[in-house]
Amino acid sequence: MAYLLSAVDFQKMADYLYRKTGIFLEAEKHYEKVAKYIDARCAVIGADSFRKYFYALRFEDKSGDEFQALVNAITVNETYFYREKEQFEVLVERILPELHAKRPSHLPLRILSAPSSTGEEPYSIVLHILEEGKIVEERDIEIVGIDIDSTVIDKAKKGRFSERSVHAIPRPVLSKWFRAGKPGYDLIDDLIGTVDFRVANVFDRTQMRQLGKFDIIFSRNMLIYFDDASRKEVAMTFYDMLNPEGYVLLGHAEYMSRITSVFKAKKIDSTLIYQK
Ligand SMILES: C[S@@+](CC[C@H](N)C(=O)[O-])C[C@H]1O[C@@H](n2cnc3c(N)ncnc32)[C@H](O)[C@@H]1O
Repeated sequence: MAYLLSAVDFQKMADYLYRKTGIFLEAEKHYEKVAKYIDARCAVIGADSFRKYFYALRFEDKSGDEFQALVNAITVNETYFYREKEQFEVLVERILPELHAKRPSHLPLRILSAPSSTGEEPYSIVLHILEEGKIVEERDIEIVGIDIDSTVIDKAKKGRFSERSVHAIPRPVLSKWFRAGKPGYDLIDDLIGTVDFRVANVFDRTQMRQLGKFDIIFSRNMLIYFDDASRKEVAMTFYDMLNPEGYVLLGHAEYMSRITSVFKAKKIDSTLIYQK
C-alpha cells in the first residue's frame, strides 16, 4: 500500500520533530509508524497530501493540538513499577539520608521524574519513601513528574494501573497502597496527588525553569531516544536545575560519562549515580 509520506517527506518530518522534541527518528525503524499516522490524520483533517498536513501542522495549529497529537503518537511510553529497583533503594538508603543531613531542615527535598510516562516511576519513589518511613516523618518531600506526552500525564493523574504495570511490586506493598480496580489496580485515594504531574518538554527552557530547583532528578529511558547533541543539552539543563550536590539517576543503558564530564560519578553497589 502506498502512503502519502514519501521517503524525502519522512526526512522533513524527522528533522522537524528532532528540532522540537530531540526525538531522533530513523527511516528504517520509524517510517511505517509515521506514514500510517499521517494517513490517518490526513483523513481526519481532510488533507490529500503530506504537504497540506505539514502546512497545517506548522502554520495553522494555533492551539498546539495537532503537534501534541503527533508527539503523543510518536513517543514510546513503556514503563512499570519498581523498574531498575536498585535505584529506588539507593535513593532511600543513601541519597535521601545524605541530603536530609545536609540541607537546612525547613526546606523540602525536591525530586523530579523526567520523564514520568504514566506515573509508575514517580509513584515507585513515593512507595519507597513511605515504606522506608523515617525521613518522611522529619522532612517534606516534593515529587514532580513531567512528560512531553499529554495522554500519559492524563493517565498518571488518575492513578490506575494494569496488572502488568504492578507485577514487580512486592505483594504486601501492593495490598497496602492499592485497591483492586476493574480491571488492574488503583492507587488508594491518599496517594493520588502526592506527585505533581505536568506536561513539559525537557528541551523547553521556559517550561523547565518554571519547575524550579531540585535535589534529585530521575531521567531514565528517555535519553536513549535522543542523539548526542540533544543528550548533552538535556544533561546541562538538569545540571542548571539541580541544587548544589544534587544527584541525577539515569537508566541502565545510559551513561553520563558519555554525555558530559560536569557531574561526578559515584558507584553504590552496582548503581551509578551522578552528583553536581
Ligand atoms: C520509555 S518512557 C520512560 C519512563 C520512565 N522514566 C521509565 O524509565 O520507566 C520514555 C518517555 O519519555 C518521554 N519523552 C520523550 N521525549 C521527551 C521530551 N522531549 N520531554 C519530555 N518527555 C519526553 C516520552 O513521552 C515517554 O513517555
